[in-house]
Amino acid sequence: MTEKITISVIKADVGSYPGHVRVHPELLSKAEGKLKKAKKDGLLLDSFVTHCGDDLELIMTHRRGVDAPEIHELAWKTFEDCTAIARKMKLYGAGQDILSEAFSGNVKGLGPGVAEIEFMERASDPIVIFMADKTEPGAWNPPLYKIFADPYNTAGLIIDPGLHDGFIFEVHDVIQERKIEFNTPEDIYDLLAYIGQPGRYVIKSIRRKDGLIAAVASTQRLSLIAGKYVGKDDPICIIRAQHGLPAVGEVLEPFASPHIVAGWMRGSHHGPLMPVSMKQAHPTRFDGPPRVIALGFQIAGGKLIGPVDLFDDPAFELARKKALEIADIMRAQGPFEPHRLSAEEMEYTTLPKVEEKLEKRWKKGI
Ligand code: 13P
Ligand code: 13P
Ligand code: MG
Ligand code: MG
Repeated sequence: MTEKITISVIKADVGSYPGHVRVHPELLSKAEGKLKKAKKDGLLLDSFVTHCGDDLELIMTHRRGVDAPEIHELAWKTFEDCTAIARKMKLYGAGQDILSEAFSGNVKGLGPGVAEIEFMERASDPIVIFMADKTEPGAWNPPLYKIFADPYNTAGLIIDPGLHDGFIFEVHDVIQERKIEFNTPEDIYDLLAYIGQPGRYVIKSIRRKDGLIAAVASTQRLSLIAGKYVGKDDPICIIRAQHGLPAVGEVLEPFASPHIVAGWMRGSHHGPLMPVSMKQAHPTRFDGPPRVIALGFQIAGGKLIGPVDLFDDPAFELARKKALEIADIMRAQGPFEPHRLSAEEMEYTTLPKVEEKLEKRWKKGI
């Protein structure tokens, strides 16, 4: 036990309807019940259950720290119980992200996505939790760069002495399973050299130079764990704001100009990441386009004060329109790259099976 509080956001797609569109309300209420009981039992301080598209999102606060086995077990058991309901209703992809039956203290590597942040509560601690569907963890690279390293986005990097020294980015190479740190602003060209390839180099966390933790993202890539296509690794990200950190509005600002991410139909296409309200978080067109919700909370003694549905604002209407225009342009490319992912990324889809069948029709020499 510690004075620090931990926010754990653990998510999984354990079945949806119809197809990959959204989580069924029965799964949401089952998960809510499990977490409320854990609060009564003293394990959790607070919780909030939601969904982005077909991904069930468990937001939990507690004092057990990052990677606490009892918190991971709670999430795992919740996903198992929800999977059982999903199976009974024959929901689509029931148990999709539960890649192994063998839980041993931590959900990492077993399918669910995890972002956890531990800190001493400040006098006032605003946080924003981003949750996306139909995309992958590298989708956070452009917005995280803008929020913490781009003064065209974050005025505070110039104006506020608390931010002026810059931040440290921890980047994971999810292919070779190694990590590296970059200091900004000094290393921004080096940082961009890597994070510009978001399918491989993924920002894991960001700290202020005095060590204060500012952001944590999930980096799990299911296909790399499973060695085959099992849906995209719809990611989550927790960001602290204000008072020596970017303001809430600076945290949201990158989403005003939608960027293009990998995911969408069959996890095999590029498309715009559209910022939406909770009630719009069910991707339909071509199973998308990929979308992101942002929930704002204040943390008070571990209690989650909120949420505010931050993209439920006419100020993001134009971004949604722009995203839809990009969606039309990308869709018009049909089966061609760059709408379809690059050959390297397609290796983790079902396309190689088709190519295998055609292999014998190829003749040597041209
Ligand atoms: P307040 O003066 O309302 O605290 O706002 C400061 C700020 O960070 C606005 O972006
Ligand atoms: P999810 O990764 O959200 O399950 O979507 C998979 C898919 O195939 C969408 O077309
Ligand atoms: Mg799904
Ligand atoms: Mg999903």
